Amino acid sequence: MSVIDPVPAPKFDIGDRGGPAQPLISVSGLQKHFPVRGSGLFRPKKLVRAVDGVNFDILKGETLGVVGESGCGKSTTARLLMHLIAPDRGDILFDGETVGGKLSLSEYRRQVQMVFQDSYASLNPRLTIEESISFAPRVHGLPVGKAISRAHDLLHRVGLEPRRFAGRYPHELSGGQRQRINIARALAVEPRLVILDEAVSALDKSVEAQVLNLLLDLKRDFGLTYLFISHDLNVVKFMCDRIMVMYLGKVAEIGTRTAIYDNTKHPYSAALLASMPTMDPAQRASEPPLSGDPPNPIDPPSGCRFHTRCAFAESVCSEKVPPLSVVSPEQCTACLMSVPGSGHSNAPRPPATHIPSMQSVSMEV
Ligand SMILES: Nc1ncnc2c1ncn2[C@@H]1O[C@H](COP(=O)(O)OP(=O)(O)O)[C@@H](O)[C@H]1O
Ligand code: SF4
Ligand SMILES: [Mg+2]
Repeated sequence: MSVIDPVPAPKFDIGDRGGPAQPLISVSGLQKHFPVRGSGLFRPKKLVRAVDGVNFDILKGETLGVVGESGCGKSTTARLLMHLIAPDRGDILFDGETVGGKLSLSEYRRQVQMVFQDSYASLNPRLTIEESISFAPRVHGLPVGKAISRAHDLLHRVGLEPRRFAGRYPHELSGGQRQRINIARALAVEPRLVILDEAVSALDKSVEAQVLNLLLDLKRDFGLTYLFISHDLNVVKFMCDRIMVMYLGKVAEIGTRTAIYDNTKHPYSAALLASMPTMDPAQRASEPPLSGDPPNPIDPPSGCRFHTRCAFAESVCSEKVPPLSVVSPEQCTACLMSVPGSGHSNAPRPPATHIPSMQSVSMEV
């Protein structure tokens, strides 16, 4: 980690509390429904089920990828984690602590930073780069001189020469340079978790590759943990240790990179992977693995939400909600084909209950 002046220590000790085995973030039963006006004469209120009972952990030092089609709830999950919006239900623990108790919201917001897709909208056009990066450390109590020198140090760390860039304004920079500034801004308050919501999606491919490598270097040097949201499965494979696949506000599958990419147990993850762009003509599918858009999150399908598009759907899939079940030490999947005795014809048989034979009963008597 670089030697930079730390922001003044808060009253509550914010170092690593629970040890490496305790997740940095632990999310349980997270729900966010947005009320929207319906159509028709009386226009009754309806609810968009953006995030609908989501459970997951982010382990210390890992990069957890979040993938899924547009509208599946990735950004809403990120905004809930940032406490930018309040959940209807559910808990978010940060290193074992709830926000609002010993861990204040302002201290939490310092430790959890976010980089968005739109590099320009995230920067104040009236502030120079140096002012933008040093702003948050100053708010957190770092003296001006030290905050400015930290801004210069971080500019250097993100590959921008401080003497050339410190006095410039956002409109004078390219998209890639602005995103480097946003990364420096996020790191200026020494966060432990950085949420990257499609942070490289708007960049040209060659610039994207440079910024991805920069993110990997910074993660190693600053001991960071990342939540990496992207629709690009090639990029997610390159960046992430574990991957969470979301569909219509729910977790379809979560597991290690190898488990998801080489041994997925969920038909939705399989369809997403099959639709990954490839340069190899022999690998190209003639039929699109996923057709049409996901159903409306205002009125999601009953049972398994994927049943209207799933090639393996059976009648039981519209009746039963598949639980997110452990299918291997590396992987949890929400599909009835993985639940013993679920009623799906591909499900494993339930373990046989031992009914003692008459002979053994008589011997025991
Ligand atoms: N403020 C809001 N009001 C109403 N609906 C919203 C709001 N924010 C998000 N949504 C809806 O919630 C769903 C999930 O959105 P989002 O989390 O942005 O998805 P993603 O990031 O995966 O594309 C979408 O149907 C979206 O239209
Ligand atoms: S539960 Fe049924 S519909 Fe859902 S993914 Fe599994 S097989 Fe497909
Ligand atoms: Mg989004």
